[in-house]
Amino acid sequence: MKVQLLAKSLLLSATLILHCQAWAASPAPVAGESGMVVTAHHLATQVGIDVLKAGGNAVDAGVAVGYALAVVYPVAGNLGGGGFMTLMRADGRKTFLDFREKAPLASTADMYLDRNGNVVQGASTDGHLAVGVPGTVSGMQYALEKYGTLPRSKVLAPAIALAQRGFVLGQSDINMLGMATQAFRKDAPSAAIFLQRGQPYTVGQRLVQKDLARTLQFISKHGSEGFYKGPVAAALVASSQSNGGIITQVDLDQYQTRELAPIECTYRGYGIVSAPPPSSGGVTMCEMLNILEAYPLSELGFHSAQAVHYQIEAMRHAYVDRNSYLGDPDYVNNPLARLLDKKYAAQIRAKIEKDTAGISMQIKPGVAPHEGDNTTHYSIVDKWGNAVSVTYTLNGAFGAKVTAANTGVLLNNEMDDFTVKVGVPNSYGLVQGEANVIVPGKRPLSSMSPTIVTKDGKPLMVVGTPGGSRIITAVMLTIINVIDYGMDIQEAVDAPRFHQQWLPDTTFTERYALSPDTRSVLESWGQNFRDTGYANHVTAILIGAPKLGGNAVGGNRYYGANDPRHNTGLALGY
Ligand code: DON
Repeated sequence: MKVQLLAKSLLLSATLILHCQAWAASPAPVAGESGMVVTAHHLATQVGIDVLKAGGNAVDAGVAVGYALAVVYPVAGNLGGGGFMTLMRADGRKTFLDFREKAPLASTADMYLDRNGNVVQGASTDGHLAVGVPGTVSGMQYALEKYGTLPRSKVLAPAIALAQRGFVLGQSDINMLGMATQAFRKDAPSAAIFLQRGQPYTVGQRLVQKDLARTLQFISKHGSEGFYKGPVAAALVASSQSNGGIITQVDLDQYQTRELAPIECTYRGYGIVSAPPPSSGGVTMCEMLNILEAYPLSELGFHSAQAVHYQIEAMRHAYVDRNSYLGDPDYVNNPLARLLDKKYAAQIRAKIEKDTAGISMQIKPGVAPHEGDNTTHYSIVDKWGNAVSVTYTLNGAFGAKVTAANTGVLLNNEMDDFTVKVGVPNSYGLVQGEANVIVPGKRPLSSMSPTIVTKDGKPLMVVGTPGGSRIITAVMLTIINVIDYGMDIQEAVDAPRFHQQWLPDTTFTERYALSPDTRSVLESWGQNFRDTGYANHVTAILIGAPKLGGNAVGGNRYYGANDPRHNTGLALGY
């Protein structure tokens, strides 16, 4: 009898434990035997898979996807923007490509201020003056030439076909374009492409982009020079000069992709390989992970008040450093050794109280981080085990919301990522300092964090997302969900998120991130919260099994997860 009772109570507690851990049900990750591609647009995902199947490696697929997204995902996919690629080869070699936009040579530190030193609303976000010198084409070509295997024409062909013949618009494409109808109406070259006689497209219609197809053909024929020199370059410059912009042919001539060493750190025995300055992503993520490593997150439990409190405090401390110290390494001495030191993390931990929220150093009127899908990330692994993690962007949705006439190229508004004025929040509510002021030729500080997690020197997880300032925390939470909470890769991507960035002194929470009583506990410790919409679209791949310590499903090696928060995306394996 006693034994029976004991067995019953053991069963009951086992069931309770299981139920406690089940915060939601997610579909199984997409499985693949020989390769995996996860992007924010299903047509681009298909392009990537086709390239892998044709024998291309992850870089070939990554470049083909980059060009394809410029056609099918114009809200963020681009030729007129910039970004980063973190690359880890099957043999463990790692590198990072920085094709971030640069401040034009004619830019000045106070170019977005009026005579009284006040920020001119919209000047750094809308129109040709907001545009940084684009880096995407340089980055894609650099990657292909150095690390790809296929000829240019093969890698560009799918994007050219999608632009030339068009593609049928689904509801989510229409929603995306619909975000910018008013802006397109104000810019004739954009209106000519993204509107039909001034009206938005509707579901089932075909979006054809002839000018963009021609630009892509120039790139296919001449490589980088097809964009930075010749007729496309001339059209970019003419469009800038005749619309209040300052980009010249010299800016285009001088643009070069930089190959840098990624930022690396360890977290509970796993390696983190992520974006170095001019991104703040790798440094900030490693600083947060270093702080968190000494807390028993797994034991405390997923989204328990105590675990959330420690994560918020880690975010708060790391973002002060991000916003104050970091900038383009050619112009700023980034204190990397200090920020990445585990001893520094221990000093921060000593300041974090168990049950009292930190107070962000100065309370200033913060602007809520933008919600939106204005950057895009894709993750690819090939049959050899090479892993590619790319985040690239126009910054805001459709960038500066202007197209360079005759090129089909939508232009970025990346200049807003600089400190337009010290202490004044940018579009992501980031209050930044001197390290990130505008200097001609400098790259603005970014949060983009294309990341690869490693185990025993081999790629284990590929992850990244859009979301402005909310990129770094979303990538970190996804990693923690896998490593500390044992989630499979889809569960890790789906789980609700929260975000804190020092200023404003409030933590942004997605729906269902905190139960009301957990939130009350945290509020009693001085934390405060603001509900927010979705900002991220995480695309992630886990190698080996759907979750750490799990079993492979059949003969599949790769497990992909597309973030359900935006429904254009797709994970596909083969
Ligand atoms: O580089 C950055 O940090 C920003 N330009 C990224 C913008 C972004 O992620 C917008 N997406 N929602």
